[in-house]
Amino acid sequence: MSGPGRDPATTPASDSAADAVANREAWNAKAPDYAEAGRRAWSGERPPSWGLWHQPESELNVLGDVRGLDVLDYGCGTGYWSAWLTRAGARVTAFDNAPEQLATCRRFQDEFGIAFPIQLASAGQLDPERFRDASFDLILSEYGGLTWADPYATLPECARLLRPGGRLAFLKISTLLEVCWPLGSAVAGDELVLDWFGLHRLVEPADSSVAFDLPPGEWIRLFREHGLVVESLRELRPPADAAPSRHAFVMLDWARQWPAEELWTVRKA
Ligand SMILES: C[S@@+](CC[C@H](N)C(=O)[O-])C[C@H]1O[C@@H](n2cnc3c(N)ncnc32)[C@H](O)[C@@H]1O
Repeated sequence: MSGPGRDPATTPASDSAADAVANREAWNAKAPDYAEAGRRAWSGERPPSWGLWHQPESELNVLGDVRGLDVLDYGCGTGYWSAWLTRAGARVTAFDNAPEQLATCRRFQDEFGIAFPIQLASAGQLDPERFRDASFDLILSEYGGLTWADPYATLPECARLLRPGGRLAFLKISTLLEVCWPLGSAVAGDELVLDWFGLHRLVEPADSSVAFDLPPGEWIRLFREHGLVVESLRELRPPADAAPSRHAFVMLDWARQWPAEELWTVRKA
């Protein structure tokens, strides 16, 4: 997710290390705002669910049976997906770029008695000694590393980390929503305001955080380049009676009319 005042005019070629530092500062500052929602998710108050309107995994059937799988939570935030997957029987490793987010995750591990390894690391720059080739059956990113780091670095990295037949599942803002989000506005509108072609790196002037997206055709080209086969692209549509999302950058009416969130799954050949 990026935010108001995004400025695609300031999108030179990506400097991954500098972007990771900017995102670390931004997410350290945001961490307290994510703690309460994280606690509710960790508590098991609702079943595992995806995205802004908490669409249940049991309805979307993205992941299937995860028992015994080696899973990497790729930009785990407060770690609720890791908690859900651990409860479901997966062997989870989680990492994030922001120490404050990981501190929240650690507190919840103690509070809820669910343990899994967590590491401070940056998507697209993982140390191959710590994160070995072909060591995961599933990589998951819900607005995590696949949103906040450059896909030209993260997709080859995910391909390296997955075992043959392993899957990458990631949720992101739809490209359509990205290009309908006017500069200087806190909320997406219903006009195309950013260029589709060349969409890549999006800088948030308010806190200098950097998000990434590509047009779908470029995502698909990049998957294929790295031996990743598209299984599905779910364009999430919230139910008409969905409770308002606490993230106000897209309204329910918008998301009922057009896809606001894309949930991709790809498989390593
Ligand atoms: C919206 S949260 C997503 C995690 C979780 N699904 C949640 O909602 O709490 C975004 C997370 O991405 C992390 N992040 C940002 N840049 C990253 C990077 N380069 N590598 C790994 N994680 C990153 C942030 O620190 C933050 O915890």
